[in-house]
Amino acid sequence: MSNEAYDQVDNWNEVLLVYRSALKEINTKLEILNDEFQHVHRYNPIEHIKSRIKTSESIVKKLKKKGYESTIENMIKYVDDIAGIRIICSFESDIYQIAEMLANQNDIKILEVKDYIKKPKESGYKSFHMLVTVPIFLSNKSVETKVEVQIRTVAMDFWASLEHKIHYKFEGNVPESIQEELVDCAMMVSALDIKMMSLNEQVQKLAKDDEESETA
Ligand code: GTP
Ligand code: MG
Repeated sequence: MSNEAYDQVDNWNEVLLVYRSALKEINTKLEILNDEFQHVHRYNPIEHIKSRIKTSESIVKKLKKKGYESTIENMIKYVDDIAGIRIICSFESDIYQIAEMLANQNDIKILEVKDYIKKPKESGYKSFHMLVTVPIFLSNKSVETKVEVQIRTVAMDFWASLEHKIHYKFEGNVPESIQEELVDCAMMVSALDIKMMSLNEQVQKLAKDDEESETA
C-alpha cells in the first residue's frame, strides 16, 4: 500500500472510532433516561435499543447515488446515517417523551426532525426520526458527531422489518397488491398502537387509584 493510501485508511479508522464513540454516548444517555423513568414512573419506556455503523459499501453506494465522489470529507458531510441508533418503545406516547428528553440535553444539537408518525410515508412507514450531533472529546479536540436516531413502537418496528424484507426480496419492485396489503397492515398497526396505549393508560390509572386509596 502507498503511503497516501495508508494515511487514508488511518484517517478512516479514526473517523469510525469517533462514530462508534457517538453511539456509545447516546446509548449511555438513553440508559440513564430509561433508569430515571423507571424510578419515577415505575416502568421502562424503552423496550430495546439497536445501534449500527453503516458498512463502507453502503456509505460508498449512498454517496454515488447522491452524485458525490467517495472521499472521507464527503462521507462525513453528506452521509447522515453513518452512525444509527434505533429505539424501540412500547407506546407511541413514550416516543415523544424520549425524543424530548434527549433533545433537552444541552450537549445534543438537533439538525433535523422527521415525524413519520404524524405524517406516515406513502408506503405506510411510521417512525420518528431525529438527526442529532453529540460532541466527542478526543485528546486534542472535540468533534460534533452526527447520529441518526429512529424511535418507534414494537408494532411499528415489526411492520418496518417485514416491509424491509419484502423490498429486499423484490429488489424494490414490490407488486402493487402486496404494497396495498402492507398499507393495510400499517393501518392495523396504528389501530393496535392506539388501543394498547389506551389500555395501558387505564391500567396505570387504576393502579394509581389503588395506591391512593391504600395510603388514604
Ligand atoms: P435516505 O437516508 O437516503 O434513506 O433518505 P432520507 O434521509 O430521505 O430517509 P429518511 O430519513 O426518510 O429515512 C431513513 C431511514 O428510515 C432508512 O434508512 C430506513 O431505515 C428508514 N425508512 C424510511 N422509509 C422507510 C420505509 O418505507 N420502509 C422501511 N422499512 N424503512 C424506512
Ligand atoms: Mg437519511
